[in-house]
Amino acid sequence: MAPTGSLTVVGTGIQLIRQLTPEARDELERAEELLYVAADPAMATWLAELNPAARSLNSLYRTGVPRSLIYAEMVEEILAAVRRGSRVCAAFYGHPGVFVTPSHEAVRMARAEGYAARMLPAISAEDCLIADLGVDPGEHGWQSYDATELLLRGHRLDPTAAVVLWQVDAAGKLDWNLEPEPRGLHALAEHLLELYPPEHEIVFYRASLYPVASPLIERIRLDEIATLDVAPGPTVYVPPLPPRPADPELARHLGITLS
Ligand SMILES: C[S@@+](CC[C@H](N)C(=O)[O-])C[C@H]1O[C@@H](n2cnc3c(N)ncnc32)[C@H](O)[C@@H]1O
Repeated sequence: MAPTGSLTVVGTGIQLIRQLTPEARDELERAEELLYVAADPAMATWLAELNPAARSLNSLYRTGVPRSLIYAEMVEEILAAVRRGSRVCAAFYGHPGVFVTPSHEAVRMARAEGYAARMLPAISAEDCLIADLGVDPGEHGWQSYDATELLLRGHRLDPTAAVVLWQVDAAGKLDWNLEPEPRGLHALAEHLLELYPPEHEIVFYRASLYPVASPLIERIRLDEIATLDVAPGPTVYVPPLPPRPADPELARHLGITLS
């Protein structure tokens, strides 16, 4: 017989409460144990009112502790609740599967131990960026990287496709640390300057958490980033350079008439 505990991982969206899907809200309410990571204290208060069994995982973030260790501790907390036989809901802000390690790992481990486990989709910061900046991933192609991963692993960007860089405010750090660290930001600018002209404008972006507030959208030339100590926003959008011309021979082969 399958063990009785179960896990549903949900996302709470970026904007407070209003971006929550009905199916996620249902899971939040019905959970016997609700563990959450909130980006905002108001969200934590709202969750506690919605379900008295709500418990924050935010205290696991400790300065100087490697993020990989913090994520492993979150997975253990979630799995311990599932193993107790509870109907568990784990809630993360944004989309729970977008740039969130412990959510995927918790689902994988729960399934490996024979428990029912699933993840529900939600609205991510990238979804908000697409709407606020009026850009379409389908227009020129789309690349999405963690800023530190991009630097450390030397991923090759295609400058004719759009780029979204995540965790730019933590670029160059693998531990949890809110202190500004300009070296990561400057290394990122140097990396981009190898591909784009110095006058290329990139966008620092912060989606609004509240319906009454506007998003932060700050456009800065690449060669001006070296003067910044702190990233003005946590996410960066790099607009594409003009597209390469279409291949006329391939177009002929495919029967496509180029305009
Ligand atoms: C650990 S990831 C979590 C992403 C989240 N799961 C999502 O779906 O958006 C944290 C990163 O998400 C991005 N992010 C989170 N909140 C944001 C916001 N309000 N505006 C812009 N980017 C945000 C930033 O790049 C931040 O460093």
